[in-house]
Amino acid sequence: MSSATPTVLVAGGGGFIGGHLVADLLRQGLDVRAVDRKPFAEWYQVHPDADNRVADLSELRSAHSASEGVGTVYNLAADMGGMGFIETNKALCMLSVLTSTHLLVAARDAGVERFFYASSACVYAAGKQTSPDVTALAEADAYPAQAEDGYGWEKLFSERMARHFLEDFGLQTRTARYHNVYGPHGTWQGGREKAPAAICRKVAAAKLSGDHSIEIWGDGLQTRSFMYVDDCVRGTQMITAGESPEPVNLGSSELVSINQLVDIVSGIADITVRRNHDLSAPQGVRGRNSDNTMIQDIYGWEPSISLRSGLERTYAWIYDQMTGSRVTVPASWNTVHSPSHV
Ligand code: NAD
Ligand code: GDD
Repeated sequence: MSSATPTVLVAGGGGFIGGHLVADLLRQGLDVRAVDRKPFAEWYQVHPDADNRVADLSELRSAHSASEGVGTVYNLAADMGGMGFIETNKALCMLSVLTSTHLLVAARDAGVERFFYASSACVYAAGKQTSPDVTALAEADAYPAQAEDGYGWEKLFSERMARHFLEDFGLQTRTARYHNVYGPHGTWQGGREKAPAAICRKVAAAKLSGDHSIEIWGDGLQTRSFMYVDDCVRGTQMITAGESPEPVNLGSSELVSINQLVDIVSGIADITVRRNHDLSAPQGVRGRNSDNTMIQDIYGWEPSISLRSGLERTYAWIYDQMTGSRVTVPASWNTVHSPSHV
């Protein structure tokens, strides 16, 4: 750790992307403070070289204390999850507005130089995502506003608030709209997991149990793009250091259907699966992809790690979690989609 440079605060450092970001910042020799409200035992990664703290940043006093001596804030702290969580926990998702608000206030008061806010593709208008062969979403497509109910509206409100802190107080805020991020050390069970981790878990369970039928939410024709976490960590730092205050897409433009996602994962596992499509399960929008024109224009870069190679690493990690922690494979690993209130 170096004491010559101001501390970097990673809010939500015990979570998936936060844990990877802390690791990368430490590799650069930076002085990193990781703060999360979960007890350490539940952090996805605890990096001993960071200043690790457990605190609820929705409280203004905790946000002030976490921001002392800080030069850069990465706000990755939010109540979030895949469709199985956000469709049924709208109030909880909207309560993240307290964390977003208090971190902005604390950063302003502490004289922070740069503030990054992790927004989401869920800010985009539902009416522009009604077809599987969706036109990729450009930043302007967030308006007229018709965001994902609950979670998406909180993100849209908080990114506007970040913009106004720049305009009114001179706090240098930067915002990225993440498109579905996946990788090792992420949520893979319990109800908050997103499709890539859920499909990896279900396919691994099928391989381990010998029962090759798995449950897929929806008809599998819905489409998404998925960004490997290393691309997310790189893009996040690029956008934070950059000069553009406008929200910018940070996502892969490799569009696949959920059925194609299952094909790739079952190919990695080297099994053929039988699919049971649950049409009553949460599905969200019909199609979503990231238009990367803006990030290319400003930074000359876009996420490029292929879905196949990212899923190979993710599947291997989830398979290890399942074989390392359990001897038998519970049926729930193939089917669960009930919301979790972690
Ligand atoms: P995650 O759930 O793994 O991490 C978020 C962390 O924030 C959790 O560890 C949680 O305990 C912590 N947290 C929540 N409220 C807090 C509070 N009040 N005080 C302190 N800690 C708090 O999620 P993630 O996938 O790492 O997502 C990070 C950020 O990126 C979130 O803001 C999320 O909304 C956003 N995002 C993620 C994705 C994705 O696909 N992963 C997509 C779009 C946006
Ligand atoms: N989670 C999950 N689990 N999704 C499944 C499953 C499964 O077992 N089987 C099929 N799906 C389908 C869902 O029905 C949905 O249509 C699609 O896979 C993608 O689901 P998620 O990965 O859960 O979420 P999302 O892409 O709709 O939204 C996610 O990404 C946003 C950013 O792009 C969420 O994590 C949001 O919170 C996030 O902001």
